[in-house]
Amino acid sequence: MNLYQCHNFKDFRELARRRLPRPIFDYIDGAADDEITYRKNTESFNSVSLVPNVLNPVEKVDMSTTVFGKKISMPIYCSPTAVQRLFHYEGERAVAKAAKKYNTMFGVSSLSTVSVEEITSITDSPKMFQFYFHKDRGLNKNMLERAQQAKFDVLALTVDTITGGNRERDLRTGFTIPPKLTLNSILSFGLKPAWLYNFLTSSAFELPHLQEHVEEGTSAVTSIGSYFSTMLDQTMSWKDAEKLRSDWNGPFALKGIMSVEDAKRAVDIGCDGVIVSNHGGRQLDGGCTPFDQLGRIVDAVGDKADVICEGGIQRGTHVLKALSMGAKACAGGRLYLYALAAAGQKGVEKALEVLQKEIERDMKLMGVTSIDQLSRKNINFR
Ligand code: LAC
Repeated sequence: MNLYQCHNFKDFRELARRRLPRPIFDYIDGAADDEITYRKNTESFNSVSLVPNVLNPVEKVDMSTTVFGKKISMPIYCSPTAVQRLFHYEGERAVAKAAKKYNTMFGVSSLSTVSVEEITSITDSPKMFQFYFHKDRGLNKNMLERAQQAKFDVLALTVDTITGGNRERDLRTGFTIPPKLTLNSILSFGLKPAWLYNFLTSSAFELPHLQEHVEEGTSAVTSIGSYFSTMLDQTMSWKDAEKLRSDWNGPFALKGIMSVEDAKRAVDIGCDGVIVSNHGGRQLDGGCTPFDQLGRIVDAVGDKADVICEGGIQRGTHVLKALSMGAKACAGGRLYLYALAAAGQKGVEKALEVLQKEIERDMKLMGVTSIDQLSRKNINFR
């Protein structure tokens, strides 16, 4: 199997599965507890149907949208995700370049393996910096300043990782950052010599935003679960979010909002957007899905803030369903991470190309030429 044979999310996932050592594949692919919410994220899109209109000329389709004041050419962007260098040696550089090619936004994580400065030197496309609120206030201050100086467009504070989710696949495989060769994992790494060769012969694994502050940025080995539970500040409150909002000079969003009350509060503290997300089902299992909450949140704050639907998106039709409910745009992690793991920049480009083609085709089949023509009349809830 190769990239040319990848035509959808499942194909990219399968190619990633073949190329990655098991602990790394499972880190991307896995979620919390029984992974029920993770599965539901996609199922909730599939539980409603699209209602098309016909006989509208649709020769030319414009799928652009404006999020956080930035026009992007397609209504889906690459969510910030951590430690991309583990998935492919090009890491975040690959995603930055692919997003630039398709003129969409992409996010860079606090736990990225390429610095904000380097990312800015690669691309002038709209960029989001994802912020984890650490106990170490010096680290927080420094990260904020670096993202601001590197001219990131949007700051997104993640609010759904107040403690580590229970990722049982990671417990079983012993997944850590950086990866550790143990008796348990040595076979899975040894079975993927191409990955191992690239990992060992390209730039060293590092977390440049943490490096000068905490051991986890350089030498210490940690799991994502214990990183969240020990490094992030569990006293984080609305007050802290409000302070961060005022410290950041530019569009600001909370990432991981699921309730109407919180969405309203986000607007009250001055957020320009809310990212409706349950962290890809990786935190609270048994939680509701972004698509299920989307309509209510749009009704409550859609006229005051950009509402983004993140999680579970595998198809262009999923994007059209979210847009019909009133989302400004959609976002996703796994939808480009499997492709990154499968083939680096070329992989991410192909994943975005496939989505773009699907969205264009589906808009034509829906009888619309711009996304503002979609509304709840285009959804059948039964
Ligand atoms: C995760 C974090 C790092 O879900 O976003 O693993």
